[in-house]
Amino acid sequence: MNAVNERTVLLTGCTGDIGVAYLKALTATGHNVVAVDLADGTAAVESVAGPGKAVFQRCDVTEDAELESAVRLAVDRFGGLDAVINNAAVYRGLGRKRPLEELTNDDWDLVLRVNVRGMWQVIKAALPALRERGGGRIVNIASSVARTAPPGFAHYVASKAAVEGLTRAAARELGRYGITVNSVSPGLVDDAATRALNDSGYVAAASAGRSLPRDMRPDDLVGAVLWLTGPDSGFVTGQTIVVDGGGVFV
Ligand SMILES: NC(=O)c1ccc[n+]([C@@H]2O[C@H](COP(=O)([O-])OP(=O)(O)OC[C@H]3O[C@@H](n4cnc5c(N)ncnc54)[C@H](O)[C@@H]3O)[C@@H](O)[C@H]2O)c1
Repeated sequence: MNAVNERTVLLTGCTGDIGVAYLKALTATGHNVVAVDLADGTAAVESVAGPGKAVFQRCDVTEDAELESAVRLAVDRFGGLDAVINNAAVYRGLGRKRPLEELTNDDWDLVLRVNVRGMWQVIKAALPALRERGGGRIVNIASSVARTAPPGFAHYVASKAAVEGLTRAAARELGRYGITVNSVSPGLVDDAATRALNDSGYVAAASAGRSLPRDMRPDDLVGAVLWLTGPDSGFVTGQTIVVDGGGVFV
């Protein structure tokens, strides 16, 4: 496995506050990053500095050809691919909370298509390049809502539970190639997406319910995610690490 400062990471969903936190941490620690998003991530990529390099490519994680092009960019620009951070999801786009009987089939299909099928498509697209390296790391971003199941977005809760199942299935199948697959499950993060979806009282209640009773910030996720993308987590696979200040115990 390459040294950290020679490693290249494919990061999806790079324009949200959490994606930007990963992007900054990766480049600051010398990683090369191919950062992709449905939205324009040029500004996000230009805002980061460090010994590592980042390049943005617009990409819908549900489109195989766009994913293949992003992986090709990693190989052409940086010589290969070592890790994937599967962070893209329909989260900010969930809109107002609704009882499950008010969700439409289209609501359901969009969230499952992006959050679960898209994640599987990213894994498929990255696999040849990871195998070419002789191994790699895949980190899938789940959510603690898979366990707490707060009312109002049953489709999102179901999608994040499915992320954990996909993680285990992929870990079993890809271990033979030296590829580890793990999930990081964040608690409620006080970021722009969460503030768009919830009032401040909801965020405060989540913060008060933690063992570490404070607001969670995007940077709180960086340590676990970088460890799982790096060389020191090589015998950990198929696991979910909850990062939520001790709100949910697994
Ligand atoms: N913010 C939280 O409290 C919280 C808690 C638990 C888990 N998470 C997870 O963390 C991740 C980042 O969350 P965030 O708060 O930054 O949310 P966000 O909605 O701001 O970010 C999600 C990103 O995914 C991108 N995206 C959506 N559909 C896409 C597609 N088809 N192709 C490519 N990109 C697409 C969006 O453009 C956006 O940049 C998500 O997986 C989210 O589910 C967030």
